[in-house]
This record gives sequence, C-alpha cells and structure tokens, in this order.
Amino acid sequence: MKIDGGYHGTHEWGQVNAFFAPHRTAPARFAGVPEARLASGVTLSTAADVVAIPYNDLPVAAAVLRRLGEQVAAVIVEPVLGVGGGVPSAPGYLAGLRRLTRETGALLVLDECATLRLGPWQVKHGVVPDLTTHSKIVGGGLPLGVFGGREDVMALFDPSGSQPVYHASAFGGNSLSLAAGAAALDHFGADEIAHLDLLGHRLRAGLDAAAASVGVAGRSVGEGGLSYFHFGSTPPRDAADTARLREGRAELRSLLHLSLLHAGFLTAPHGLLCQHVPTSPESVDALVDTYGNVLDDLRPYIAVHHPELLEKDTVRTRRDAP
Ligand SMILES: Cc1ncc(COP(=O)(O)O)c(C=O)c1O
Repeated sequence: MKIDGGYHGTHEWGQVNAFFAPHRTAPARFAGVPEARLASGVTLSTAADVVAIPYNDLPVAAAVLRRLGEQVAAVIVEPVLGVGGGVPSAPGYLAGLRRLTRETGALLVLDECATLRLGPWQVKHGVVPDLTTHSKIVGGGLPLGVFGGREDVMALFDPSGSQPVYHASAFGGNSLSLAAGAAALDHFGADEIAHLDLLGHRLRAGLDAAAASVGVAGRSVGEGGLSYFHFGSTPPRDAADTARLREGRAELRSLLHLSLLHAGFLTAPHGLLCQHVPTSPESVDALVDTYGNVLDDLRPYIAVHHPELLEKDTVRTRRDAP
C-alpha cells in the first residue's frame, strides 16, 4: 500500500500513482481510492500488487487495510508528501497509520529520503516505523541510499540465514559514499535542523506575503527547510488537491520557474524549494523579494490566461507601490 502521489523511486511499485504522466489506468478497487495510474513501461499486473490511498485520509486507510487484512505486506508513506505537492502529514495521521498497521500486521515503512533534512521524523514525533529509508543528504553529496529497521525484519537480509532476501548492488556499501555521509551527519544536528526550520518558516511566510502584496493567489506549504509554492488560494491536503491546483497551469508554472532562473534563482521546475545549512536569512529574503517581482511581472499574463488567480480589487502592484 502506498500513498496516491507518493514518490519512492522508479521501480515498478513506485511508479503506480506517483506523479508520472500515466500511460494507462486501471479501475479503483475500493471506495475512496483513486484509479490506478501506471507510468510507461509498468505492466498492468503491477496494479494488482499495489493499492494507493489518498494522503491524510485515515478513514480510507482504515477501511482498505481492514478489508485487505494480512494481504497488505507493508504501507509506505512520506512524512511530507514531497513530489505530490510538499503536503505535510496532518497531525495524528502517521500515528494513525502506525496503529492500523499494528492491528493488521503490515509493516509501516517511513520513507524519509527527502525529509531527513527536517530532522528524523520518527525521533521528532515519536512514530516508530518498522522500516525506514534515507537518501539524498544521507550521502553528504555522494550517491547513497540507506534502509534499516526492526531487527527481526533486517535479519531476513542476513546472507547466512536459511532463506535470505537477496540484496546486492554494484555500489552497495560504497565506502566513499558512506564516509562522506558519516562526515556530513556529524555536522547535522539539532542546531542545524532548528536553523532550517526557521529559514523554512521565514520563506513560507515571505512567499505568502509576496503573493498577497501583488494580488496573485498563491500559497506555500511544507515543513522545515522543504517548501513548495502553489498557485491558488487553498493549500493542498493530498495529491488530488495538488493535481487540481496544477491543472491547466503548466505554462504558468514554467514561466515562474524560468523567470526565477533568469533572476538568478535555480529552483526545481515542479516547485520544490529546499534550503541547506549554509543558507542565510538574507538569501531567503532575496528569494522572497524575487518571487514578488516575478509574480508582479507575470500579472498581465495571469490576467489573460488565469484571471481566477488575480484579486480583482488589487490595483496597486508591487512595482508601482510608493
Ligand atoms: C521520498 C523519496 N523516496 C525515494 C526516493 C528515491 O530515492 P533514490 O533516488 O535514492 O532511489 C526519492 C528521490 O527523489 C524521494 O524523494
């Protein structure tokens, strides 16, 4: 079981209901669950192995988990739905999934690949999963993926066991990546996480204010040093909300991305904004300022193509404000 819009890499199971352009679809198997969307190259039979549930919806999770019972081997979930729109998990959601998975016997896998920069979620919030995945910052800039968890589950990977789960790769346990990762983590503790938290708050508050000041409907969401900017006035709660906020706005989002690039800020085309430890409050303010100017520049385009995003009575724009 995974989350609709959750991204966990490009293996087959990960390409069901992720944010890939769907190549084909299969009907939803349960009430409250979206249809299965399969990326190119993923076999239709994969849809029978994976069920994607909407993020932040515990009643649907409970209904599907109880219905499938022991058939569900694991539930994989991100503490913040990253590519699915930077949507933070609602208070109590992950704890609820923890309770439900204990009830049905499924493993709870917390994918902390992207969110380790917020500080380990399970430590901060006390939701202890059965397995955890880490990547990105865990390699200190070099390629590395890490997983671990409950001793009895990890014991299955022990090659001296009677029926080991085979696990090997060309770069598995790569010494250079491990050394870089260990060194980087030696410099990433509570102070650095608190610094990123402050920067993230500053960025999100700044972006919301910048959009409001030029009368463009836009909201930022996220957690700690991981933020997302969306066009529209209501922040998304799940991937379907994010899809609605993006619908018909691909060109506008590209214009935003290219304008920021032109102004000297390299952001992810899909809208994700990450701070790293050396980021200063001043550089966050500079990005916020540029966002405001870029949104202001885009107003004439928005007025023609997306008038629903303009606040009608905002006559004074940022540039011609006294
Ligand atoms: C939440 C999440 N899970 C998994 C992955 C995949 O990690 P890797 O590319 O190390 O396989 C990513 C990468 O973007 C990610 O953001």
